[in-house]
Amino acid sequence: MMRTVLLNDFKRQWEETGAAVMTAVGQVGESGRYILGESVTRFEDALASTLGLGYSVGCASGLDAIEIALRALDLPLGARVLTTPLSAFATSLAIIRAGGVPVFVDVDARGNVDLDRCERLLEQRRDVSFFVPVHLYGHPVDLAQLGRIKERFGVHIVEDCAQAIGASASGRIAGTVGDLAAFSFYPTKNLGALGDGGAVGGVTDTLRPACMSLRNYGQSARYQHDRLGLNSRLDELQAAVLVSAFLPRLAGWTERRRRIAARYRAGIANRLVHLPPPDSDAQPVWHLFPVLVSAEQRQAFQEEMMRAGVQTGVHYPHLIPDQPAMRGAPFEIVGELARAAEIANGEVSLPIHPHLTDEEADLVIAAVNRWHGR
Ligand SMILES: Cc1ncc(COP(=O)(O)O)c(C=O)c1O
Repeated sequence: MMRTVLLNDFKRQWEETGAAVMTAVGQVGESGRYILGESVTRFEDALASTLGLGYSVGCASGLDAIEIALRALDLPLGARVLTTPLSAFATSLAIIRAGGVPVFVDVDARGNVDLDRCERLLEQRRDVSFFVPVHLYGHPVDLAQLGRIKERFGVHIVEDCAQAIGASASGRIAGTVGDLAAFSFYPTKNLGALGDGGAVGGVTDTLRPACMSLRNYGQSARYQHDRLGLNSRLDELQAAVLVSAFLPRLAGWTERRRRIAARYRAGIANRLVHLPPPDSDAQPVWHLFPVLVSAEQRQAFQEEMMRAGVQTGVHYPHLIPDQPAMRGAPFEIVGELARAAEIANGEVSLPIHPHLTDEEADLVIAAVNRWHGR
């Protein structure tokens, strides 16, 4: 029987990593220390040096990482935070939880927040002094332009790197341009734990004590609470698995994703299916491989792919400001969100995990190329 090509294949990941994971788990068990011990520190150091950061602070999720970053930057209550309408809901949820008001602007052809629009808005709106760009699908925003925006307007930037761990552009690594960077280790992410996890990191140490305090009830020292923090600690178990079994494989996994992306680019030729724009000087990490079809054809395309044995996804079907939860929440929309809506209505994600074989990638290509619309 034909096996479906999956969007993520955790069984194969386990086949590759299971033995290393079990060793790491055993070591934590034997250590008798399960919270904020040696494994968390080892992982934080290894992650920071992998990503060109000065430090990283483990926490419970990517959502918390963004909230902790904004609170470490002393985001004032009601402050306007420029961001994207096309992302995981968590990006805006973190802004709102931190007391901010998301200000949504449209995205570019790739689905990333449109930095030219951001610049124009910042020229006019001196009240917008925080910015949370998302490196969507693993493709970094133009990091040189992001750096210029930071200098020119003095905005505080938290880079949402949940989908873009290790991505780079203009010789800079995603996460090293803003004041702080947020990462997610949700299992489907390029570096995914066996459960939830996240980290916040920065280049200079200035905000490190605030991040460390905020993840741990706002403690600056034992039983000394200077802030109203969270319980958002990364477990020793997850940290041990990440540092021993997964982080050492990340570069290889990323390389594999890039090869599959190159294979898709070379092989897919169907006028009804639009590939992501070429990469100019960016090195994306291909968390997802997004293609665009027309809104009317999307469902039929996904059904046809499923019949051909290919699982697909949609990232994301609804813009954040359109979500029911936003009805009672504070936010602003500046300009039209036309491009974001077009992507929300027509995006389809093809499988691109590191355990996908060349044969499976070719099966995906053949299925896409065979499709002639409904
Ligand atoms: C872009 C983006 N930001 C934030 C998050 C939140 O991460 P987490 O699920 O670890 O809270 C995710 C993942 O879900 C994401 O894709």
